[in-house]
Amino acid sequence: MEKYVIHGGQPLHGQVEISGAKNAAVAIIPAALMVRGVCRLENLPEISDTDTLLRIMTFLGARVTMINRSTVELDCTHVQMDTLPSQMWDMTRRIRASYYLIGAMLGRFGRARSTMPGGCNFGVRPIDQHIKGLTALGADVRTSGGFINASAAGGRLKGGSVYLDKVSVGATINIMIAAATAEGRTVIENVAREPHIVDLANFLNSMGADVRGAGTDVIKIRGVKSLHGGTYALIPDQIEAGTFMAAVAAAGGSVKVANVIPKHLDCISTKLREMNVEVEDGDDYVLVRRDGPLHPTNVKTKPYPGFPTDMQPQMTVLLCSAPGVSVMTEGVWNGGRFKYVAELKKMGANIEVDDQSAFIQGVDRLTGATVRACDLRAGAAMVIAGLAAQGVTKVEDVVFIERGYQDIVGKLRALGADIACVDEPEERPAEESAG
Ligand code: UD1
Repeated sequence: MEKYVIHGGQPLHGQVEISGAKNAAVAIIPAALMVRGVCRLENLPEISDTDTLLRIMTFLGARVTMINRSTVELDCTHVQMDTLPSQMWDMTRRIRASYYLIGAMLGRFGRARSTMPGGCNFGVRPIDQHIKGLTALGADVRTSGGFINASAAGGRLKGGSVYLDKVSVGATINIMIAAATAEGRTVIENVAREPHIVDLANFLNSMGADVRGAGTDVIKIRGVKSLHGGTYALIPDQIEAGTFMAAVAAAGGSVKVANVIPKHLDCISTKLREMNVEVEDGDDYVLVRRDGPLHPTNVKTKPYPGFPTDMQPQMTVLLCSAPGVSVMTEGVWNGGRFKYVAELKKMGANIEVDDQSAFIQGVDRLTGATVRACDLRAGAAMVIAGLAAQGVTKVEDVVFIERGYQDIVGKLRALGADIACVDEPEERPAEESAG
């Protein structure tokens, strides 16, 4: 069982290059299914979620050619499958973004069948808004027995209007992909505005689509007959950048976080400054420095441009070391997304969770312990806690972290962190690890 072993207390110094955005990649790879021609994707992150999706695309009949570590050519011209075969179910159940294959297959073939998606467990993750949107485009969508079946009346989707009752990244993306080649005009209101929504729109447009308004709360799409090949470079990962910023703030030191779009980090930078962390914006980098004590603050997660829910655990770790009381409120996921707090408590954190909020009383210093990565971002938060803690921290279940962070261990080591990935047996009590 691979785990990360961290000897805490080393400040971070130097420069880290941020990889391409995971959540853009996992939308754009399935969207390439809509394209008859070669899509060359650049700045793709080397993470297990993109690897899984590329394997699924290969299985569906796409020609996938790795040009280098961050560039891939995807040719879906001859893909004919509108059903995810059973050999793929294990993979589609593992990742959230597999549901974008439904929008893409439906848009391309007028039919789609796949498993319900997987992904991080934040409690209930409904897909009613996806269904509402695809239905507005004329699809008959049914879910049963863990599968999604969808078909377009007459074999081709038709443009339509949909108002999302909940701002949903996934539903916005799925409907955008499906509508790109639907007949006529689609209007989606109350959409998500995350940077990767804009990235997907730019990708689709560079392949011949007509998508307008991405980044605002209304997206208008004029369906085109077909999409053609082209080259597209993905944006840098907002959350990976934020994670490294939080790591510097937690461990202390001074780091240039490079290959970022500072505007995408505004909300994170502002909160860090409130906490007595220096953040200086460059053209495509931010300089982060912390040498004084952290100050407490309150944070509430919201859809973009609000504070990202995917930075919530990392920020909570930071607040653990800020003397005084801070409150972290989860405003996106019902159920709080606070499972990782139990792990942080093993490191001496003083946190009480009540419904959607965590009340954090800062402690002098966290202490090393063996903890689990409960999910992708919670796992990154445990790494940050380990960097700040006194003593040795072992983070288990790192497969979750590797779903979304390219070489996190190598990048942190290059900044001076004492972290290694080792293969050791689990340390959980027998009854917990059984089965
Ligand atoms: C995406 C991100 C995830 C991030 C989340 C919010 C990917 C692969 N994952 O997840 O990391 O935490 O955005 O920024 O991009 N909802 C409904 N009905 C729906 C869909 C969503 O009620 O049909 C609710 C959810 O329960 C949640 C909220 O809407 O409370 C936001 O979910 P959504 O934006 O859809 O998240 P994902 O796209 O699944």
